[in-house]
Amino acid sequence: MERKAVVEIRDMTKNFGITRALDRVDITVYAGEICGLIGENGSGKSTATSIYAGMQSCDNGQMFFKGERWQPSSMMDALEHGVGMIVQENGTVPGITVAENIFLGESARFRKGPLIRRTEMIRKANEILKSIGADHIEASAVTASLDFQDRKLVEIARVMGKKPEVLVVDETTTALSQKGRDIIYDIMDKMKTDGKTVIFISHDLDEIMEVCDRLTVLRDGKIIRTFEKDEFDEEAVKTSMIGRELKGDYYRSDYDGSYGQEVVAELRQANLGDQLKNLSLQLHKGEILGIGGLSHCGMHTLGKVLFGAVKPESGEALVHGKPVRDEAYAMKEKVGYVAKDRDVESLCLDASIRDNISVAGLDQFAVSRFLILPSKEKAYVKQQVDDLSIKCRSAEQYVSALSGGNKQKVAFGKWTGRGSEILILDCPTRGVDIGVKQAMYQLMYRMKKEGKSILLISEEMAELIGMSDRLIVMKDGEIKKEFRREEKLSESDMIRYMI
Ligand SMILES: Nc1ncnc2c1ncn2[C@@H]1O[C@H](COP(=O)(O)OP(=O)(O)OP(=O)(O)O)[C@@H](O)[C@H]1O
Ligand SMILES: [Mg+2]
Repeated sequence: MERKAVVEIRDMTKNFGITRALDRVDITVYAGEICGLIGENGSGKSTATSIYAGMQSCDNGQMFFKGERWQPSSMMDALEHGVGMIVQENGTVPGITVAENIFLGESARFRKGPLIRRTEMIRKANEILKSIGADHIEASAVTASLDFQDRKLVEIARVMGKKPEVLVVDETTTALSQKGRDIIYDIMDKMKTDGKTVIFISHDLDEIMEVCDRLTVLRDGKIIRTFEKDEFDEEAVKTSMIGRELKGDYYRSDYDGSYGQEVVAELRQANLGDQLKNLSLQLHKGEILGIGGLSHCGMHTLGKVLFGAVKPESGEALVHGKPVRDEAYAMKEKVGYVAKDRDVESLCLDASIRDNISVAGLDQFAVSRFLILPSKEKAYVKQQVDDLSIKCRSAEQYVSALSGGNKQKVAFGKWTGRGSEILILDCPTRGVDIGVKQAMYQLMYRMKKEGKSILLISEEMAELIGMSDRLIVMKDGEIKKEFRREEKLSESDMIRYMI
């Protein structure tokens, strides 16, 4: 059967200053298929797809949509004409309601004379939320009150409300728990059966091979190869992604799981709404303690409380036996925290990589309270950039200009470099490519061996099982089960206690 090309990108080039983000890229995606895009951080996936979805323009090249020239003037314009994208970064406006986000730029639809028919807007928004399986979200809520996952679902509702013919899903699933993922998979499946088109970007190789019909690999802004479904082979895909074979262990390879006796951080009977219910837990010296659960189980809040960023209603958070008053105190006690919502809580996007990384490491190169040694600072930052292969022109580049995965590396490098004794990592490898993920896992293991302690909060069960000495499953603000490190532990063992 003749395949009908829907999305065509021809000879596309895009430069950012001296960075060549796309180099003569050709991509064709057909009706009724899910096409995967995969490649290392900074390889050009978001750039190529966001140009097609109207977010920015290219320097050279042509685009076609169902055979016709395609030149959207904005994201709204693209969506209006059938091309929607779920962006990698936060795509909702925090200070307005969910309904207003869903109908962003469309308030005219609900206008009656000088008034906006709010009830009508909310009713329609709730209908859309229900249609995608996210009816737990209330359309009248202020978007800022939702967590990361639900804000993503609002964005999905906005795009799906427009019934697009082409949907781009950019690195969305790795930040979502199973429920959120299932919603996206269902949407993509339905689009495929309806003869529509999906472009799916993910760093999870198993997931992308499972979900997609074809897979296109990008490296350094160039198309390297397209794999048809019957050619899918994990090793071959990895090799074409990184241009060499990936050697060595991915997760740690031992099943020892021992750690020190000393308790370095703990929660004592902490209560906070439905997120923490009389929860006690201890993190030991030299321990990697994994925490998993569904998105609303309370694990993300737990990380914030332990870092002093959020106060519990009762009970306490302690570091080295003393109450954590606030974040400044936690930092003084050498606690580091990588937040899940990194763009808002962990990074300053409108500042350089150097400033972002060095701000947590001042004690490493400050000679007094008022004086830092620039040469030492520079060396310190360079070390982090090299260790995590942060893809940038120089450390002076603004974080806002980095690709998603490279931003994540900056958030991670900010804390690992300063000699943090205790690390609270909330989804630390989100959106990071497999090569760098491996480096992050090795680094975590090395830190453990050096007697440092890591609280690893994650939506990825494989990573929790692969790395933890001890693994806690949370549900509804409580600890449901504790596992010790062992070879036999499987994801299904965990899931039983999560739902
Ligand atoms: N606004 C910008 N200003 C300057 N450089 C940019 C900008 N946006 C992207 N780049 C650069 O373009 C290149 C491609 O980035 P892109 O975001 O497309 O990568 P990606 O494949 O989506 O990576 P990731 O997996 O990390 O999301 C990177 O080198 C990035 O730093
Ligand atoms: Mg990207």
